[in-house]
Amino acid sequence: MSRYQEALQILKDNDRGEFSVPTHGLYPVQFNWDSAFAALGYRLFAPQRALREVELLLEGQWADGMVPHIVFRGEHDGYFPGPDVWSTGQPIPTSGITQPPVAGSVLRRLIETGVEVDQPRLATMVQRLADWHAWFSVARQCPDTGAIVIVHPWESGRDNLSDWDKAMAAVIPDTGLGEYKRRDLEHVDASQRPTKEEYDRYLTLVRFGRDCNWDQAHLGRNSPFRMLDPGMTAMLLRAERDLIWLQTRVGQDISATQARIRRLEDGWRALWNPSVKGFTSLNQITGEPGQAVSSASFLGPYAGMLDHLSETLDHFDRIAGRVKYMVPSFDPDAPGFDARRYWRGPVWYVVNNRIGLGLREIGELDRSERIRRDTAALSEATGFSEYYDPLTGDGLGGTRFTWSASVYLDWASEQAGAIASTAATAATPGQG
Ligand code: GLC
Repeated sequence: MSRYQEALQILKDNDRGEFSVPTHGLYPVQFNWDSAFAALGYRLFAPQRALREVELLLEGQWADGMVPHIVFRGEHDGYFPGPDVWSTGQPIPTSGITQPPVAGSVLRRLIETGVEVDQPRLATMVQRLADWHAWFSVARQCPDTGAIVIVHPWESGRDNLSDWDKAMAAVIPDTGLGEYKRRDLEHVDASQRPTKEEYDRYLTLVRFGRDCNWDQAHLGRNSPFRMLDPGMTAMLLRAERDLIWLQTRVGQDISATQARIRRLEDGWRALWNPSVKGFTSLNQITGEPGQAVSSASFLGPYAGMLDHLSETLDHFDRIAGRVKYMVPSFDPDAPGFDARRYWRGPVWYVVNNRIGLGLREIGELDRSERIRRDTAALSEATGFSEYYDPLTGDGLGGTRFTWSASVYLDWASEQAGAIASTAATAATPGQG
């Protein structure tokens, strides 16, 4: 079976009817940005299924506008931390935090590439996106800078990035957590997963949310962990620009979106870190900036922001000379880099995809091609892992991963011929 066929098969196998799981076993639930990326893959052989993936994700929206990072649908097989730990009291059980807002950008791509949807249905989805984006300005925007704050490392989607270490070390672990059984360690080697100490602190932050009844504005102002994140800021900024396109299409007013864009542009600029000469995270509580660039530092072009482009590209070239496969999640020259542990160094396709798109759009073709080729080469060598070692190319974490298959199909493989032949023999995805 070719890698292309294998990727299609993974998307079919991880399909649960109207939503996909990131992978069988390790993550048996619907994740926010995973679903958005899954839709990019489904688009190629089941366009209506792709649309439904995004629509269903948005149907998990809270009354306050937040679209949660996990929606517990169907059989979730004792996933930990499950609905009882989050205890959010939502009609559909969900987690109590959000995740990178890429759904709007993906929806635009679906519509632009010909996925059909009637106007009222699209208008409902667009309104939900607008409400979610507006929620960020109420619950997750730093009032001083305009950058987006995360209240839990999981919210960033880049869960255990070295950037979060110091701020997490300052979170006093809850001593009343009791015994708990992590399910991730049943599926993946412990050396590639967060440590027990990190996990205690993750759960302490969940407890903080539960104790304030998930009052999101309160969390945004008072969580003991509040980091300004270039990843979230850039992805929201891009999603807002794509929202304008969608709102125009359905005749909705764009003025509030435009105002939010201006504020987010200030926010992105505020993350410029002169000592690192890159866009980095910033601890909102202590005012301390990050010590090194991460993959999110390269998302400026994707967000439509070209400030400090030459310094940013200098970092890109330095790192490109250090690793075999771009883009490592954390600077390989910085302390805290670990080529194999989760977000502390490995390559993740979804971030590659967004960085690559942005660079291509501004005409940085050699650099965007380097990322695309490296991504394709990783899969051709080892298949569709959760993430990859940037030095050796080893596939790590979970296997048969939806978003890796999807990004490969949609972008990395760029096999126009294969897409055409797949469409001709299109089968509907199975009910996994
Ligand atoms: C991990 C990742 C997160 C992703 C989830 C499901 O928690 O850090 O970004 O959404 O797995 O794939």
